[in-house]
Parts: sequence; C-alpha cells; structure tokens
Amino acid sequence: MFPLLAFLAFTPLLLVRADAARILIYSATRDFRHDSIPTAIDALKAKGSSISVSFDNTEDPTRFTDDVLKQYDAILFLDNTGEVLDDQGKAAFQRYLGLGGNFVGVHAASDCLRNTTWYGNEVGAFFDYHPALQNATINVLDNAHPSTNMLPAQWHVQEEIYNFKSDPRVIGATVVLSADETSYSDPGPRNYNQGTPHPTAWFQERGAGVQGSGTAGRSFYTSLGHLNETWKDDLFLAHVLGGITWTLQSNTTLAFNASANVGNPASSSSSSSVSSAATGTASSTSSSRGATLIPPGLMQAPVVIFSMLFIGLFHILP
Ligand SMILES: *[C@@H]1O[C@H](CO)[C@@H](O)[C@H](O)[C@H]1NC(C)=O
Ligand SMILES: *[C@@H]1O[C@H](CO)[C@@H](O)[C@H](O)[C@H]1NC(C)=O
Ligand SMILES: *[C@@H]1O[C@H](CO)[C@@H](O)[C@H](O)[C@H]1NC(C)=O
Ligand SMILES: *[C@@H]1O[C@H](CO)[C@@H](O)[C@H](O)[C@H]1NC(C)=O
Ligand SMILES: *[C@@H]1O[C@H](CO)[C@@H](O)[C@H](O)[C@H]1NC(C)=O
Repeated sequence: MFPLLAFLAFTPLLLVRADAARILIYSATRDFRHDSIPTAIDALKAKGSSISVSFDNTEDPTRFTDDVLKQYDAILFLDNTGEVLDDQGKAAFQRYLGLGGNFVGVHAASDCLRNTTWYGNEVGAFFDYHPALQNATINVLDNAHPSTNMLPAQWHVQEEIYNFKSDPRVIGATVVLSADETSYSDPGPRNYNQGTPHPTAWFQERGAGVQGSGTAGRSFYTSLGHLNETWKDDLFLAHVLGGITWTLQSNTTLAFNASANVGNPASSSSSSSVSSAATGTASSTSSSRGATLIPPGLMQAPVVIFSMLFIGLFHILP
C-alpha cells in the first residue's frame, strides 16, 4: 500500500518540466561598478520561476563563445561599464544575435562597449550622463506593453535619470517610459539629441545590432535600476520581468520555436525534461561544450532524484 501511495504522491513531479527559457546575466564591469549588482542578480534568480526562466550569471568574458551563447534564449547585460568583451567575444555575441538570440539591457548596460556601434544599436542608445540620484516622475507612454502594464501612469521613483547620446527611436525602438523633466533637476550640459519625450525604457521588435540578413530577435532596455532598494521593489521587478517576458516572445529561440538556432535545448518545445534529465546529467557550465545537452535546469534535479526513487520502489513492489 505504501509504495502505491508514494507512487501516486510523486507522479506529478515526473510531469514537472524544465523552465522554458534560459537567460545568461552578464555583469562584468571595467569602469564604475554598481554595488547593487548582487542584489539585482539575487532578485532576478528568485523571481525566475514566476516567468519560467532560469538565470545563470557570469562576469567571465571568455564565456562569450558560440557554444556557450547558443544555449540561451536571451543574454541580459546588467550594469556593465567599459570594454567588457574583447573582439572575439564581441564577434560571438553578434553572431548569436544574428541567429535569433534576444537581448535585455538594464541600467548601465548602455555604458559599455562604447565604441562598438552595433552594440549601441542593440541596446538602442549609449548612455551620456546622469544628474544626481533624486526622486523623479516617470511617465508611462505605452501602458499596453508587458513591461509597463502594471505601472501607474505617473510612476514615482528614486533614480539616476539617464541621458543618452542618441534617440533610440532613430534606430527603430519604441519608447515605453519617459522621464518627466519637470519633476527633477538636471544642470546638464546636454550635448546630444536624445529626442522627446525623454527616453527612459524602450523595446525593439528586431534588435538593431543585427547586421545583414541575420534573424533578429527582440531587444528590451530599461535605464532604471540603480539602487539596492529598487531591486527590492516588486513593482520595479515586475517592470523588468515583463520586459524579459516580452523579449522571449520573439519566438526566434528554442523556448518558443522548436526549429530555432539558439536557446535552451531542454525547453519544452524541443525535448521533455524527463528525457533530458535522464541523459543530461552532471556537467556544469563550461565553455567548450558541443551541441549536447545543457546541465539540468533547476526543476530537473528533483525529477532525477524521484525517478531514481521510483526505480527503487518498483523493486520492492510485490
Ligand atoms: C547593496 O547591497 C550590497 C549587497 O548585496 C551591499 O554590499 C551594498 O553595500 C549595498 N549598498 C548600499 C548603498 O547599501
Ligand atoms: C574609443 O574611441 C575613443 C575616441 O576615438 C578613443 O579615445 C578610445 O580609446 C576608444 N576606446 C576603446 C576601448 O577602443
Ligand atoms: C523620495 O522617494 C522615496 C520613495 O521612493 C521617499 O521615501 C522619499 O521620502 C522621497 N524623498 C523626497 C526628498 O521626496
Ligand atoms: C509568439 O508566439 C506567441 C504564441 O503563439 C504569439 O502570441 C506571439 O504573437 C508570437 N510572437 C511573434 C513576434 O510572432
Ligand atoms: C523559428 O525558427 C526558424 C529557424 O531559425 C525561423 O526560420 C522561423 O522564422 C522562426 N519562427 C518564428 C516565429 O520566428
């Protein structure tokens, strides 16, 4: 009787599937370093399962190879500053984007690789400067987008309000959030035209960093996210998670397209977690992996354990 009950009790766990999408957070810095980076990574990892995403994070530029990047449905640049990739890493990243890979940028992600024009286009614009940290009002320009539909029309934040070196609308971005310049003080000087209304967060249906005939995924960028407190604010996190969710729905990666070139190979569209849990054991993230399975996702370890338990239970069944 007990083995049967145990079987019934554990059966649903066999049906648990891996998180659909896998995202690599890249937080390397070469100039200014935000002390909120660990808080941001912890917050994203803690919320990942709520949007069926498992997050890995690294600051190792040598992870930017074709074999590593192709396992991810999106690469998320978090607070990067300066030359955080060498030429090989940049080339691999651009190939990834041209294979349908998605991009998410947060806060200082617009302040790295400053001479790399295609990277600036993939973000949407490069950071110029910000006035002092202060309270400000952010206007929601598009309240239908998944990154904004939970926000009040006037969102009060304590933030570094970024100015940019160009208008992201020029390369095709749609601005969803705009800083109300009457709500805070910015002594300038303003040397570049970033367009009006003031761009603060935006999306691109086709990431403009892709050159030629590549398959472009989506790009989402928010300039908010300076403080630890911000990363502990559920409303801000909902904004970022909504942007990530929208980005993944480009359907150009394996999470939502079984014939895509890049993305989580263990996502539901390409294979079941049970079969990959059975075969895709061990192997931590290494940079030299071929086209094999990724390491088991967060949800897969329990499946492996309970699968083994079953085998044991079947042995003692009468
Ligand atoms: C932000 O959090 C990190 C730990 O995650 C801590 O080291 C840092 O001092 C915090 N910053 C401030 C200004 O409290
Ligand atoms: C970027 O370009 C500027 C201006 O040409 C130059 O001074 C700087 O050294 C370049 N930086 C890198 C990392 O190539
Ligand atoms: C700034 O906003 C924070 C909440 O985000 C609030 O606690 C604080 O009192 C505000 N400061 C000023 C000077 O209005
Ligand atoms: C991606 O697929 C979903 C579900 O089929 C669909 O709702 C969405 O419109 C698709 N997105 C694009 C960009 O085609
Ligand atoms: C799915 O991936 C294939 C292969 O890259 C691509 O040709 C196709 O356009 C993708 N589907 C969508 C909806 O983007």
